[in-house]
Amino acid sequence: MIRVMSKFFFYIYRKFINSLDLNNKNGEKKLVEKNNQYFKLLTNNWSNKEIYHSKMQISELNKNKNKKKRLPTPFLKWAGGKRQLLPQMQKYFPSNFNQYIEPFVGGGAVFLFLYNEGFLKNKTFLIDTNEDLINTYKVVKNNVEDLIDDLKIHVNDKDYYYSVREKDRNQEIYNKMTFIEKASRIIYMNKCCYNGLYRVNSKGQFNVPFGKYKNPKFCDGENLRSVSLALKNVELVHGSFEKVLNFAKKDDFIYFDPPYHPLSATSSFTSYTKDDFGMKYQEKLFEIFQELDKRRCKLMLSNSFSDFIRGLYEDYNKIELKATRAINCDATKRGKIKEILIVNDF
Ligand SMILES: C[S@@+](CC[C@H](N)C(=O)[O-])C[C@H]1O[C@@H](n2cnc3c(N)ncnc32)[C@H](O)[C@@H]1O
Repeated sequence: MIRVMSKFFFYIYRKFINSLDLNNKNGEKKLVEKNNQYFKLLTNNWSNKEIYHSKMQISELNKNKNKKKRLPTPFLKWAGGKRQLLPQMQKYFPSNFNQYIEPFVGGGAVFLFLYNEGFLKNKTFLIDTNEDLINTYKVVKNNVEDLIDDLKIHVNDKDYYYSVREKDRNQEIYNKMTFIEKASRIIYMNKCCYNGLYRVNSKGQFNVPFGKYKNPKFCDGENLRSVSLALKNVELVHGSFEKVLNFAKKDDFIYFDPPYHPLSATSSFTSYTKDDFGMKYQEKLFEIFQELDKRRCKLMLSNSFSDFIRGLYEDYNKIELKATRAINCDATKRGKIKEILIVNDF
């Protein structure tokens, strides 16, 4: 009897709950209908164009809401770039420092890494002897929108590429180009040339052949804009690495990435500028390293794992790194090679 009674009450209870649900559903349905009518009333007074634009604005807003801010990455491919070594180098960077100075900035992989990690709280100096490179950084920093507009003019075509490359063969033509046109030329050629590198001959003329890439991205406006932002607090200096002595003070962090001392007579790549970076320069650099060590700067230097370099820096801490270098045209010879990271005590 009790069983039958409890089943009956349970049945009544379920009926009651379902009727509540139904009321809710009807209620919701009514609300939706009411909203639609209200929307219809509202939009009846609008033109189709206005409705279209308001819909577009909402979808733009949603798109921007979902878009993550893209972190800046190097906008040039640079021989000896440090991007691939950053995971190995990361743990040796000082955790705090005052100014940051990079006297051989090249593609700027280390600078952008430190920027993205939030390490760069004070002034930064980026130095390089390559005038075209420093001009390009300055244009990215100060004239990024004009640069993007100029980049849009270029096309990925062999004849067009060589006509752009030719421009530094005639100094009169080259000198007439604006800073923006020169920067745009460098970025365009870097993305469309063979192996995407920067190399000049002894006259300082760009000499890399056309690269035959299907769809090279020579106008990446979004990245250029975020690099421009990263350069806001940066002083860009055209000149040789000795200039570091003008800026460096106690507790500044200085990262040196010079052209490497060759492991063998045929393995060198030192054509970033028309001047070669021989043993004399490596010795001069070592003197500067010692001077900055005396100033109690925090120092880090990359170079080849050669006897000469290890001998020169014998009194400093040395860390062995492994890198895959792609400068060899023969892909089968692109194995892992040892490189060295030298740090003072900080
Ligand atoms: C190994 S690359 C730097 C690569 C850079 N760390 C990167 O991640 O892309 C060497 C750079 O040193 C520059 N350079 C060569 N001789 C120089 C000198 N005497 N003073 C300053 N920079 C120099 C070259 O123009 C080149 O950009």
